[in-house]
Amino acid sequence: MKHQAIDELLFGKIRPQKPPKKFVLLVCALLLLTIIPLYYPSICRSLFVSKTIYSNPLVPSPSSSAQEEDLPSITSNLKCDIFTGEWVPNPEAPYYTNKTCWAIHEHQNCMKYGRPDTEFMKWKWKPDDCELPVFNPAQFLELLRGKSMAFVGDSVGRNQMQSMICLLSRVEYPIDVSTTEDQRFIRWKYTSYNFTMATFWTPHLVKTKEATYTDGPTKTGLFELYLDEFDEAWTTQINEFDYIILSAGHWFFRPMVYYENRKITGCNYCLLDNVPDLGKHYGYRKAFRTAFKAINSLENYKGITYVRTFAQSHFENGIWNEGGNCLRTKPYKSNETRLEGLNLELYMIQIEEYRKAEKEGRRNGLKYRLLDTTQVTLLRPDGHPSRYGHWPNENVTLYNDCVHWCLPGPIDTWSDFLLEMLKMEGMRSAEEKKRLISRDRRSN
Ligand SMILES: *[C@@H]1O[C@H](CO)[C@@H](O)[C@H](O)[C@H]1NC(C)=O
Ligand SMILES: *[C@@H]1O[C@H](CO)[C@@H](O)[C@H](O)[C@H]1NC(C)=O
Ligand SMILES: *[C@@H]1O[C@H](CO)[C@@H](O)[C@H](O)[C@H]1NC(C)=O
Ligand SMILES: *[C@@H]1O[C@H](CO)[C@@H](O)[C@H](O)[C@H]1NC(C)=O
Repeated sequence: MKHQAIDELLFGKIRPQKPPKKFVLLVCALLLLTIIPLYYPSICRSLFVSKTIYSNPLVPSPSSSAQEEDLPSITSNLKCDIFTGEWVPNPEAPYYTNKTCWAIHEHQNCMKYGRPDTEFMKWKWKPDDCELPVFNPAQFLELLRGKSMAFVGDSVGRNQMQSMICLLSRVEYPIDVSTTEDQRFIRWKYTSYNFTMATFWTPHLVKTKEATYTDGPTKTGLFELYLDEFDEAWTTQINEFDYIILSAGHWFFRPMVYYENRKITGCNYCLLDNVPDLGKHYGYRKAFRTAFKAINSLENYKGITYVRTFAQSHFENGIWNEGGNCLRTKPYKSNETRLEGLNLELYMIQIEEYRKAEKEGRRNGLKYRLLDTTQVTLLRPDGHPSRYGHWPNENVTLYNDCVHWCLPGPIDTWSDFLLEMLKMEGMRSAEEKKRLISRDRRSN
């Protein structure tokens, strides 16, 4: 078992090929549909404006909600938490296939590798108290005209970006404008919209080195995390971005040695003499704290940071290297499973650190939002590649992949949420403007 293999699975080395010419026609046809109003009549408002942050049942409400302090006039008609709901059948899905989209990563191209069932593609998320519209690519691109978005994290973040490229492909394919050959830092540009999307590889979010003296107890590498130091590979690059999608998770399940102040302070399952095992959650909290500190200390960054919450894996009957697998073919109902144990702990850590960062950022005019996908994806044990992420005879470390998501698949829904939140952002600033104007009128 070499860790190169799991690295390959976790971030891959495959750059998608160029788009076929026949799409140009389709693109031109769809361009005609792109003039879409960004703001909606107030009758629709309840569908588009949702209270997303503090009404999640998994999270206890803080005594005074930051959102409500800020925006009393909006939150008063916000009744809907878009992240609480159920998966419902959607016969119209999927909205692309491996034939229409070239951006599907090899290891997430489940149909290519013979996945026999297709039902997992045919669901959409239904919030309990409102509707979540399915992703509208033309509307998304119109909203993001002239903007840029960075996916900062690991291969699940890249999985999300590739899902988005496929969803957007009905309107336009991006061109590769990467500034390096390094596949972990790819930049895409949607030329008709002057919209840039980039991916920054930083699975631990902080400065990291891979130990050369050992493979670690699980033979998947031993990582040295400098928990109080920025990973400059991304922190020096994101100033210019309008949106950051920040996420991390699965790499904290591996053996790690923690450094603070350049000294070893502990580890996660490193089995080194005289190094206390502080657990995964210790590193996870500090890593997020440092990542937020980096964002809050950026000189020119004025963007919105979306924190995409932890999407747990679904191994059953063993963990990834003990023959565990994910063989379900249907979503769970929300009453059939719940977040617990370490997964709950990691989620709560994210929420806690997010709240602190949000408060801190607000002082500098920086916005944070919670892309709260944890409960939504917890209910989708059926969406992973399992053994259909490669040919059966291939010798790969993560043979049954219950971490990443087949494309098309449930991760496409993350784009539904993101678009909804971007639209909400538009509503918010429209509301703010309205309030300012009426205040001015009153004071004049
Ligand atoms: C798979 O690869 C590992 C390490 O590269 C090797 O030790 C093992 O024998 C291989 N197994 C098979 C079935 O080829
Ligand atoms: C797409 O999936 C089909 C099976 O549905 C497979 O035969 C084909 O090779 C795949 N094509 C690509 C380009 O991945
Ligand atoms: C494209 O967007 C960037 C900001 O992302 C802006 O600086 C630039 O002027 C835009 N170019 C055009 C041609 O609109
Ligand atoms: C979950 O709720 C559904 C109704 O939505 C019900 O039919 C089912 O029995 C419940 N399952 C459990 C395990 O409580």
